[in-house]
Amino acid sequence: MISSPRISNRVSRIPRSAIHEMTRLSKEVEDLAFLSWAKPTSDTPDHIKEGAIAAIREGLVGGYTENAGLLELREEIVKKLRRDNRVDANVSQIMVTVGAIEGLAAAVMALVDPGDEVILPSPTYSTHVRQVVIASGKPVFVPTAEDQGFLLDIEGIKDAITPRTKAIMLCTPNNPTGTVLVETQLRELAEVALENNLMVITDEAYEYFTYDGYEHFSIASIPEMRRNVISCYTFTKTYAMTGWRIGYLHADEEVITQINKAHIPFAICAPVVSQYAALAALKSPQDCVAEFRNHYLSARNVMCERLDGLDSVFAYEKPHGAYLMFPKILLKEGKDSTAFCKRLLKEGGVSTTPGIAFGPTGQGHLRMSFCVPKEEIHEAFDKMERYFG
Ligand SMILES: Cc1ncc(COP(=O)(O)O)c(C=O)c1O
Repeated sequence: MISSPRISNRVSRIPRSAIHEMTRLSKEVEDLAFLSWAKPTSDTPDHIKEGAIAAIREGLVGGYTENAGLLELREEIVKKLRRDNRVDANVSQIMVTVGAIEGLAAAVMALVDPGDEVILPSPTYSTHVRQVVIASGKPVFVPTAEDQGFLLDIEGIKDAITPRTKAIMLCTPNNPTGTVLVETQLRELAEVALENNLMVITDEAYEYFTYDGYEHFSIASIPEMRRNVISCYTFTKTYAMTGWRIGYLHADEEVITQINKAHIPFAICAPVVSQYAALAALKSPQDCVAEFRNHYLSARNVMCERLDGLDSVFAYEKPHGAYLMFPKILLKEGKDSTAFCKRLLKEGGVSTTPGIAFGPTGQGHLRMSFCVPKEEIHEAFDKMERYFG
C-alpha cells in the first residue's frame, strides 16, 4: 500500500497561491499582456551591483555575518530611518532579513501562538494571511472602506478585537489597492493598539512610491508606540532588487531579541553578498529611487486613462501609492473573480490577479500592476477593449 506523506495541518490548509496559479496558466497563452506581478521590471542599478562585485572580489561574502546583519549596514539603516521615516532607532533595534517577507514571517512567529488572532484590514497582501496561518494563528479580516479609497475602518477594527487578538498587520502603501494610509488614521490606529496592548506589524515595502502629494507615514515614528510596532522594510521595491532577497526590520530591543530567535532557524543571517549590495544602495545617491517613482507615476496615469475608457467594465479608486490598482468588476460575471480572470487570460490574452486572493472583500475585483513598460499597459487595454467590445 502506498501511504500519503504526512503533511502538517498548518501547511496543508494553505491554499495554492492565486498569483502563482495565474503565472502557471499564463505560460499556456501565446501573445500575452502580463499585469499579474508586483515585481519591478527594471534591473538593479549598476552601482549596487558593483558594490556586491567588489565585496565578492575582496573575499567578504563567503561566511555568515552576525544574525542581525552587518554592523555597517545597520548603521546606514539607522540613518535612513531617521532621515526618511522620522524613526529614532539604534543598531540593536535593527535586524537585516531575507527580504521583507522573512522579517514579517519571523515577526508573526515571534508573536502568535496557536489560535491567536491577527487583524488584517482587507483587501490585503495575500502573503500576510499565509504567514498568520503557518504560525497556526487565525486571520481576522476587517473590510476597509472602498468608497473612501480603501481607508481603514477604525471602528470595525475595534469591534474585531477579542481577548485572543495579538496583532494588527498593516500594509501601506498597500498591495493590492495602492492606498496610502495617512498620518491621522495611523495615529487613531496607534491609540487602539495602545489601549488594547496589541502589536502593529507593518509592511512598508512601497514606502518611496507615493503620488499626488501623499506622504508615507511610519507608525513607529509615534514615540508612545516604541514597544508596540514591528516595522518591516525591503530593498526589493525601492532599488529593484527582488532577487537579492534583502530587507530589514525595526523593533524595540526586547521584541527584536525574541524575533531573532525565529529568524535564526529559518535564515541564520540574510545573504551576505546582498547585504553588501544593500550597503552600496544606501550609501549612494538616491536618484534611481526618484527615477523609479516617476516612471510608476506616469504608468499609473496611463493605466487610469485607459481604465476610464472601460468604465462599463471596471470602476476604480485611483491609487496614491505602490504600483498596483484594484478595480471593481462591474459585469455580473465578475462576481467570481477567479473565473473572470481565468477567462480574461485564456480568451482575452491579459494576465491579472483575482481579487479573492487578497481576502474575502477582494471578491468581485482584480489586481492590475503598472510596474510594467507603458507599451505593455497599452497592449493589455487594447486587448481588453477588443475582448469586452
Ligand atoms: C506588500 C509586499 N510586501 C513584501 C513583498 C515582498 O518583499 P521582499 O521581496 O522584500 O520579500 C511584496 C512583493 O510583492 C509586497 O508586495
